[in-house]
Amino acid sequence: MGAPTDEEDAIGDLHGRQMSGFKDFYQFLAPTRVVAGRGLIEGVGFEFAKEGAKRVAIVTDEVIRGTGLIDAVVAGVEDGGLEVATIFDGVPPDSDSAVVVNAAGQAQAAEADAFLAVGGGSVMDTAKLANVIFTHGGEPREWEGYYGLPRADDGLGRPFGLAPLACVPTTAGTGSEVSFAAVIKDREEHIKFQVADFPMYPRLAILDPESTRTLPPHIAAATGMDAMTHAIEGYVSREWTAHGDAYALQALRLIRDNLERAVQTPEDDDARGNMLIAANLAIMPTSSGAIGIAHSLSHPAGAHFDVPHGVANAINLPWVIEFNSAGGEDIADRYRDINDLLGLEVGGDGPAVGHELAECVRGVVSRLGLPTRLSEVGVPESAIPVLVDGAMGDGCTLVNPREPTEDEFAALYAKAL
Ligand SMILES: [Fe+2]
Repeated sequence: MGAPTDEEDAIGDLHGRQMSGFKDFYQFLAPTRVVAGRGLIEGVGFEFAKEGAKRVAIVTDEVIRGTGLIDAVVAGVEDGGLEVATIFDGVPPDSDSAVVVNAAGQAQAAEADAFLAVGGGSVMDTAKLANVIFTHGGEPREWEGYYGLPRADDGLGRPFGLAPLACVPTTAGTGSEVSFAAVIKDREEHIKFQVADFPMYPRLAILDPESTRTLPPHIAAATGMDAMTHAIEGYVSREWTAHGDAYALQALRLIRDNLERAVQTPEDDDARGNMLIAANLAIMPTSSGAIGIAHSLSHPAGAHFDVPHGVANAINLPWVIEFNSAGGEDIADRYRDINDLLGLEVGGDGPAVGHELAECVRGVVSRLGLPTRLSEVGVPESAIPVLVDGAMGDGCTLVNPREPTEDEFAALYAKAL
């Protein structure tokens, strides 16, 4: 991709976006200590002690507990001289406010001083928000939004710290182990709300392929597509950054080389380990807010119809690529970089470039054996208006490179159905 021409700069100005060049402003963070490699579960206590943990509340779900992984984690915690204060294994696939409150209460009752999340995105996000309630009290919805945790100096200074949180991800996709956001369901209102602030970055992420050894292939596929969606949406978001670009592109290389291997040959430790790393890298652009409307479309589908997040993204992503790439040459250039990395055609106009990438993504999704239509996963056509409402109000919509109207969102859902 060359320097932008005057004409491209003018297009960027016209749409109020800056898709290349030196950005007027950005902020980038990656503060979580990442430890990656083999045999790390047995050393989890040794590593977590360095973050100040002494009495650990383990947060997980029943399925993971049933695999025996928690026994290995408990042994690892105790081997490092730490105590397991309690094990909360009540996190459902789509966690909600009540679960968060219960997890926080159980940790308090057990006099824990640290959280260790062992699970996928739902488990890790539960632990993050439980830590907020554990430390500051209140109800989960009270903390909704960005940068709302208590701070010194009348709210202008450094945010007060939380208890140390370590994460052992058991899926390779959400990247929640290195992000500062928790996405939790409000079951009464049928929405997913986000809480995000700097202290919510986990202190420690432990990436060991052993932790995804028993991951069912269809979940490896769906969560891997979530990681791909983060990398692609992060790279083409109007909130892109040079730092985030570096992470997104390396994530895409690892996903290109490892996602299908990890799903089709689950015994391939290298592929599973590389996907854990790819999921980490792919989420990094979101630290500057870089994400897009595949997520805006997927969040309401999850909130209303329990469509798993990764499955919804896998279905929506190709349509969003085609929509965005037709929004201007400055956006198409970003997709050209991705096509180049994936060995796809980079010539032609924006729609051609987008179609090329969208077809490639569709091919990956179908080879992974995932659904390709929202109607296959329980979304009826009659739901489009309520889904569009959710998508319009989603925070991811504002940072998409091309701003969709209500009608355009409805058209995207209609295509994805
Ligand atoms: Fe996601």
